[in-house]
Amino acid sequence: MDDAAKKTATPDSPGWDVVDLLGEIADIGRDSVRGGYSRHVFEPAELALREWFTGRAEALGLDVELDRNGNIWAHWGARGSGTIALGSHLDSVPGGGAFDGPLGVASALSAVARLRAQGVMPARPVAVVAFAEEEGSRFGVACLGSKLMAGAIDPAKAVKLTDAAGVTFGEAAAAAGLDTGELGRDGERLASLAAFVELHVEQGRGLADMGAPVAVAASILAHGRWRLRFSGEGNHAGATAMRDRRDPVVAAAAAVLAARDIAARHDDPSHGTHGRATVGRLIPVPGGSNVIASRVDAWLDVRGDSDASTRALLAEIIDAIRDRAASYGCHVEVAEESYSGPVAFDADLRTRLASTLGGPPLLATGAGHDAGVLADILPTAMLFVRNPTGVSHSPLETASDDDCRAGVDALATVLRELLGQRTR
Ligand code: GLV
Ligand code: MN
Ligand code: MN
Repeated sequence: MDDAAKKTATPDSPGWDVVDLLGEIADIGRDSVRGGYSRHVFEPAELALREWFTGRAEALGLDVELDRNGNIWAHWGARGSGTIALGSHLDSVPGGGAFDGPLGVASALSAVARLRAQGVMPARPVAVVAFAEEEGSRFGVACLGSKLMAGAIDPAKAVKLTDAAGVTFGEAAAAAGLDTGELGRDGERLASLAAFVELHVEQGRGLADMGAPVAVAASILAHGRWRLRFSGEGNHAGATAMRDRRDPVVAAAAAVLAARDIAARHDDPSHGTHGRATVGRLIPVPGGSNVIASRVDAWLDVRGDSDASTRALLAEIIDAIRDRAASYGCHVEVAEESYSGPVAFDADLRTRLASTLGGPPLLATGAGHDAGVLADILPTAMLFVRNPTGVSHSPLETASDDDCRAGVDALATVLRELLGQRTR
C-alpha cells in the first residue's frame, strides 16, 4: 500500500484492518532457530516494530510521543485529563507467537481508525500505547515500562538490570534515546488517564471450549520470578567418580522436579485453586558436554491466587530446592527478581464493558499484563480473543482472522461507549 492510501482511514479500508496490520509486521523478528518471534526490547526487531507503530499512528493522524520510560503513546486529540487509553506491547518472549502483544496494539489502531472514519469527534482524549519490555525477556522484569511509569519499580534498580550480554537497561534505554535520569513514576500521565483497556489473545482454552470469540477479563494470578544459583564443583566428566561429584546440574534437575511436584499438589483449577511453578531457563556454567558444571543459573516462575498462597507455595518449593541441592553436595542462592500481586479488574468498568458487549464470557487468567500493573492506580479492563490452540508463549499461539476482527469490533464498541458516543 502506498503512503497516500495508508493515510485514508475508512472502516473498510484494508489498510486499517487488524489482519492486514498484523500482516505488515509478520516478517519482523522471526526466530529461525526457535521458531516464532524473538522481539526483545530495544533490539533491532523491536525497534523496527516501534518504527512501524509510529508510522502507522502518524498515518492515522495521531500525535506520537515516546514517554520517559520507553513506552510509546499515540494521541488522538488534545492530551490531558480523562484520557481513554488502549493498547498492549510489541515485544515477545524468545520464540513467541505473533499475537501476544501486537494483536492488542494493532486492534487499538484499527478501532481508532474505525471511529475516525465514522466521524466520531472524541469528547475526551484517546491514546494508543505500546508498552516497553512487557515480557521481561531481555532484562528479566516483566512489564518494566508500565512498572516504571506506575512507580512500581525503583528506577535505580531498573537501570542496573542486565541482559544476557551484560548490557544494562540503562545503557539500552540511553541508546534508544531515553534520558535515564528521567526514568520512573510518571505522575502527570497517570493522573491524565481515566481508563486503560488492553485487548489480548487468550492464553488458554477458555473461549475455545465455550465457543465464543471474545471475553472480558476478570482477574490475574499473583506471579513472580526468582533467580536460583546452584553452586557445586566443576570437574572432569570421565575422571571424577560418581560418588565424588558435586554436580549443580543434578541439583537443578532435582529442584525442577520438586517444584513441579509441589505446585501440582496446589493446582486444582476445576475447584478454582491455582499454584503454578515453572523453570524455563537454565544456564550451566561453563556448559561443556564433557565437563561437570561448577554452577547453574535457573529462573523459577511461581504463580498463585493470592499473595499468601503464592508466598507459601514459593516457601515450600525453596525449602525443597535447598534440601535437594544439599543432598547433591551443592549450595543454592535465591534472589527475587520481580513480584506482582493478584489483580481483580475494576468491577464497574468490567460490568460496563460486559453490558456494552451483550454479556460475553468473563475469564480469569494466569498471565501477567500491563493492564494488571495499572489496575492498582486507575480503572483498567481487558478483552481476550479466542485462541483455538489454547497455547501461548509459543509459535503455536494463534487466533483466526474472523476472531481478530471480532476483537476489534468489541474494542471499537467499548471505545465508543467510554467516549459517550452511541454505537451506530
Ligand atoms: C507474561 O506474559 C507473563 O505472564 O509472564
Ligand atoms: Mn506474554
Ligand atoms: Mn502479552
